[in-house]
Amino acid sequence: MEFTLTSRPLAEIDASAAAILAFASRPPAPEFAGGVPREMYDSGEFTGKPNEVALVHLPQGLRARRLLLAGCGEPEKFTPALMRQAGSVIARALQARSIQQAAVRLEDSAGAPMLRALVEGLITGSFQPDQYKTEKNNGGKLLESVEISVPAVTPELEEALLAARVTGEAQNWTRALVNEPGNVLTPRALADRARAMAEECGLECEVLDEPRLRQLGFNTLLGVAQGSAEPPVLIVVRYTPGQPASQDHLALVGKGVTFDTGGISIKPSDGMEKMKYDMAGAAAVLGAMRALARLKPPVAVTAFAPCVENMPGPKAQRPGDIVKTFQGKTVEVLNTDAEGRLILADTLTWAARLGCTHLVDAATLTGAIAVALGHLYAGAFSNDPAWQQRLLDAAARAGERIWPFPMDAEYRELLKSPFADLANIGGRWGGSITAAKFLEEFVEGKPWVHLDIASVAWLEENKPWMAKGPTGFPVRTLVELALSWQQPGA
Ligand code: BES
Ligand code: ZN
Ligand code: ZN
Repeated sequence: MEFTLTSRPLAEIDASAAAILAFASRPPAPEFAGGVPREMYDSGEFTGKPNEVALVHLPQGLRARRLLLAGCGEPEKFTPALMRQAGSVIARALQARSIQQAAVRLEDSAGAPMLRALVEGLITGSFQPDQYKTEKNNGGKLLESVEISVPAVTPELEEALLAARVTGEAQNWTRALVNEPGNVLTPRALADRARAMAEECGLECEVLDEPRLRQLGFNTLLGVAQGSAEPPVLIVVRYTPGQPASQDHLALVGKGVTFDTGGISIKPSDGMEKMKYDMAGAAAVLGAMRALARLKPPVAVTAFAPCVENMPGPKAQRPGDIVKTFQGKTVEVLNTDAEGRLILADTLTWAARLGCTHLVDAATLTGAIAVALGHLYAGAFSNDPAWQQRLLDAAARAGERIWPFPMDAEYRELLKSPFADLANIGGRWGGSITAAKFLEEFVEGKPWVHLDIASVAWLEENKPWMAKGPTGFPVRTLVELALSWQQPGA
């Protein structure tokens, strides 16, 4: 999608549709389509609530052929998050009507954060998970170009536009990857995608194959993979800054289970097809790298994506199997469906030992996270409150909702095994927390945050602002976290 910033007034822009933000109980000025919007407000046809749209044809006083009113709610309560949503609603409403050229007016008072939110919203709103549909909705006519009318084009706005474009596109790239079915996107196919992305963006990429993983002793990862005909891989993608602000090194670790049947502890068949999204963490860390390669943060960042397929079969891992981790601790695998923590354990230790100073992992780790939070928030779990706060602050700026969980030492008791150093499940209660406590054992005391994204990586139904399917969470947070890296003491 092409974007241009312009200081031309909206009325002068020739486009298939012009869009304006329309607030509750504040009809747009008569310069936009004369008295028509006011009449719509007066009659109650349009009220300006978030997600509401109305279309005026051949609007008086505008060169555009249509005027789209996008509801934004109360003006005092308008935030970048609502702006992002309005941008997405605009993109989806326009695309549904096969409109490909648009102009949008940004309010006089809006600054760079609002522009960024608008552009990210337009990009993510235009995404359709239709790679495999021969006949696309509305003939595949995607929104092609958007002119954004602002009071004055400044370098600050140009910079915000670039960051938003790169981040929004990375989020959509992640979504397309997550949408790939398990038969297409095997662990090795995912590695091919990562390699191609790294080459295109000028990043280093290394793929550790099964013999290498065996040599290194990634036994918990290999244990999960052994039931599948597809060999596992560990994808490593590196970004090195030209001028590092510090010696810090950020590790982004993503769970890459390309399909999770549960293994011998097999899942019920109802809804199992969705388990192709069990690699959403891996896709998100790779998507974030794709954006960072272009936006060039001042900190070294390495993404690690352990990738496996979790299958039952004659070679599959059994409940009760005891496996020795890369770190050396033994784990009793009481449930083969708790596989994410097994593949992440070895990878987190590896990242910590390679010298990464700050760790973040993103994983569709537990169904329990959606029981706790519903589908609005991801959960955060950490061994370091200050580091967690930095991540939560980045998430707030990026407009992704993440909620912190307790990590008291008593939760660790639930992972006791009579026969090994720890068990891979902690019983009925606090399932997301015990999963995080399991991971904590393997981070070697490094500042670490675990994001359980099982609740938010997949949208269950179409919304006015987003298509059903993969969401690309938490690409924006990871990008913002690295971009806002400060010099020590700054
Ligand atoms: N991939 C699942 C978690 C999941 C569930 C993701 C629903 C998305 C939607 C994970 O590997 C898993 O199966 N976890 C188990 C853990 C249990 C056996 C302790 C779960 O949540 O049931
Ligand atoms: Zn599982
Ligand atoms: Zn899983």
